[in-house]
This record gives sequence, C-alpha cells and structure tokens, in this order.
Amino acid sequence: MLSKPSETLADDPFGGRQPTSHERMSGQPWDASYQHGPAPWDIGDPQPAIVRLASKGGFAGAVLDAGCGTGENALHLASLGLSVLGVDVADTALAIARERARARGIEVEFAAADAFHLERLGRSFQTVLDCGLFHTFDGDERPRYVASLAKVTEQHGTLYVLCFSNEGPETGPHPVSQDELRAVFNPGTGWRVVAIEPDRVQTRFHDEKGAPAWFATIKRI
Ligand SMILES: C[S@@+](CC[C@H](N)C(=O)[O-])C[C@H]1O[C@@H](n2cnc3c(N)ncnc32)[C@H](O)[C@@H]1O
Repeated sequence: MLSKPSETLADDPFGGRQPTSHERMSGQPWDASYQHGPAPWDIGDPQPAIVRLASKGGFAGAVLDAGCGTGENALHLASLGLSVLGVDVADTALAIARERARARGIEVEFAAADAFHLERLGRSFQTVLDCGLFHTFDGDERPRYVASLAKVTEQHGTLYVLCFSNEGPETGPHPVSQDELRAVFNPGTGWRVVAIEPDRVQTRFHDEKGAPAWFATIKRI
C-alpha cells in the first residue's frame, strides 16, 4: 500500500507527501479509514469537550480545525456563526464533511491540506483546534507540526489540543503525557501552555464515558 518510487503522483495514495508515522505503521493512507463506514474516532457528533468550550466563548475570530476528519467539530463551530476552515489529508473525509454541511445548510469551508505545511494555506487564524491529530504524530513529527501551526496562528491566538491522555484506565491509542505536550509547546517554539486539563474523548470503541484525554489551551506568543 505504501507508495513506491516508480508510481506517478496521480497513483500515489499519499498525493506526493511523506506518509506520516501512523500511515507507515498501519500500512495505509488516512483516507482508507473513511472508505468503509465510520472510522473508530468518527462519533457522528462534535466532541462534548469542544461543545462545552464553545458554549463558554472559547472560540473567536477565524478558526482552523487541523485534521478535521468528517467535520463534526468544524460544523458545530460554524453553526454558532464562527468562520471555520477544516483541513485534512483524507479526501473521503472531506467529501463527507462537505456533504454534511450542505445537508445541514451550514456555511463552512473544508480543504485538503497537509498539517506539516499549513503555511501553504496563505491564511492565519485566531483560534486553532486540534482534535485527535497531535497524538497521532511521533516524536520526530511533533516539532515540525508545531512549527507549521505557529506559522498560521496569529500572535496571542489560541490553540486547543484535545488528545488521548497517558493517565487512567482505558487509555486510547497514542497516549500523550503532559510533559510531552510541554516539551514541544514552549516559548522556544513560539507557544505558552496556559492550561492542560483532564477531559474525555468519545470514540466508537470506548463506552459512553469515553477515553481519558488532555485538553490543552496553548497561546501563540
Ligand atoms: C484521529 S482523526 C480525528 C479526526 C477529527 N478531528 C475528529 O475529531 O473526528 C485524525 C485526522 O487527522 C488527519 N490527518 C492525519 N495526518 C494529517 C496531516 N498530515 N495533515 C492533515 N490532516 C491529517 C486524518 O486524516 C484524520 O482525519
């Protein structure tokens, strides 16, 4: 399944980009997760942690949802009147997201983009959401992703990262520690961690309590 050097760009399931560590591990592109019914993380609703934060006014200005999947979080934020762009490398997920927006009459943008090259969007955002993307990246990828996020987040803008936590029973795949978050988001990389709160992530493979998560609030300095 991984791209071979002889393949043309049109044949390449990775569209010419480097497969991520998750794709190398699973042996298939992210898009494959969306081709045969809902992906394990695709609960068909926005994450409760994000709904709660949005209800308290946590999102402002132009919003980027990095790794938006089928778009439930982006759709929820857009339904509140926010200007939202959701980006992902999985075209099938983006097609589902656009169809949901059309069916619900919600104005929102979805675009194919690589989270390692967000500067290619040529835009900047006051609020950026990462729901379940950061935790899929390994130690080598994280600094590149964090630098890419820094290029599109306005000064004093806010990044929210909702990721699986390493604490508690029933942790999800790719559990992340608070120290790992603080190791990449720090003043040296253009960020200040404001808070890392324990929360939950709902999945299709956990019970109704979901999986233990960290919900990090991080400021661009
Ligand atoms: C665990 S899923 C979470 C999806 C969505 N945020 C949600 O909460 O349902 C991770 C998403 O990140 C996307 N993704 C992975 N690597 C990416 C990259 N380099 N650039 C953009 N999106 C990426 C995947 O295609 C997938 O949709």
